[in-house]
Amino acid sequence: MIVCLCRAKSDRDVARAIDDGAASIADLQRCGIGTDCGSCHGMLRMMLAEAAAASAACPECSEAAADDLAAASA
Ligand code: FES
Repeated sequence: MIVCLCRAKSDRDVARAIDDGAASIADLQRCGIGTDCGSCHGMLRMMLAEAAAASAACPECSEAAADDLAAASA
């Protein structure tokens, strides 16, 4: 499924970037995801939060994703 239309990035591309260490929108943007209109950022934040919740290996990353999620819902 395409998540970022502007950059033609799929959910698999996003998941791969997260698996490679992306923990924030800024990290994903450095991977070329979500760098244009920003309408995909809500979905990106959700994917980051889900990945953080599923991973207990890196509490700092979880915190960053939780901050992103809180900022998205504010
Ligand atoms: S849809 Fe991702 S930046 Fe526009």
